[in-house]
Amino acid sequence: MKKTAPNLIEISSILSDGLYHDGETIGKKLDITRAGVWKAIKKLENYDVKINSIKGKGYSISEPLFLLNETEIQNGIANKKIQIDIFENIDSTNYYLKNFIGTYSPQICIAEHQTKGKGRLNRSWHSPFGKNIYLSLLFPFQKDLSNLIGLSIVVGLAIIKALKYLGLDKELSLKWPNDIIFNSKKLAGTLIEVFSEANGLSYAIIGIGINVNMTQDKKQITQPWISLKQILNQNLNRNKLCISLINSLLIYLNKFDEKGLACFLTEWNSRDCLINQKVKLINANKTTTGIARGINELGNLMLEIEKGNIKPFSAGDTSIVKD
Ligand code: BTN
Repeated sequence: MKKTAPNLIEISSILSDGLYHDGETIGKKLDITRAGVWKAIKKLENYDVKINSIKGKGYSISEPLFLLNETEIQNGIANKKIQIDIFENIDSTNYYLKNFIGTYSPQICIAEHQTKGKGRLNRSWHSPFGKNIYLSLLFPFQKDLSNLIGLSIVVGLAIIKALKYLGLDKELSLKWPNDIIFNSKKLAGTLIEVFSEANGLSYAIIGIGINVNMTQDKKQITQPWISLKQILNQNLNRNKLCISLINSLLIYLNKFDEKGLACFLTEWNSRDCLINQKVKLINANKTTTGIARGINELGNLMLEIEKGNIKPFSAGDTSIVKD
């Protein structure tokens, strides 16, 4: 676990104009030695960043790489009391925040790279360096665990709202419980872990992975996926995205803490990509098939397993069945 080295941020930004820069000039600009520049370049290569190097000309990066900037993000957040930690490398942003359960204000951890990124249902979450958003938020709730069932619904809606400034709106939908979908492909996912306190209060660690500037990957991701860069045809500023995401999450979570799930149901209905579709639900190795009939006031998926027989389901993985 390591905070991002300032040199790494500056060097990747210099090289991101696509031109060649020699070690000496970079070193002078940043007031470090050529060996220091070389070390940073090696580090980027170890993170699988493709660096071109030509003797006499120096180094360049073919795909722009702008690393996250803690001050810029902190300045963009409406709530100034929030602690934000950004790491160059970490096992998992969700694991890190477990150390802070018991803290009374929200706390955020973002990473450029995760070595043990976790997905739902024990899957791993592929986390290539500097490409995407890997962000976790620890949020203290004024209610007990039993009232947090609909949380994943609210988080999914908050993510969609956060992406609205990019001109994305109607194209995005939610697959219960919380996958963000574009064109039947996964754009973002959420892993939520909840903890109860003896005094009746509770905490959630909300881990969010958004595919941002990833366009291909060495590792085969098993689900069909898409990134914002592929949708919008441009490299995205991840600082801006983090700011929008954090501000949106805090608005949605505070409202959920105060008012519960009921006031989000209409918004959910307009995003639900499973509604009236034949759906397969896998939960604890049990598969149930039925027609999706929306969610109930607790956030459970309502499945019509036979004509007129609609049952609620609280957890699982869903997919549309194509006949
Ligand atoms: C899923 O759809 O399976 C959930 C993916 C959640 C990934 C995020 S990335 C940030 C946070 N840290 C993790 O280890 N996982 C979540």
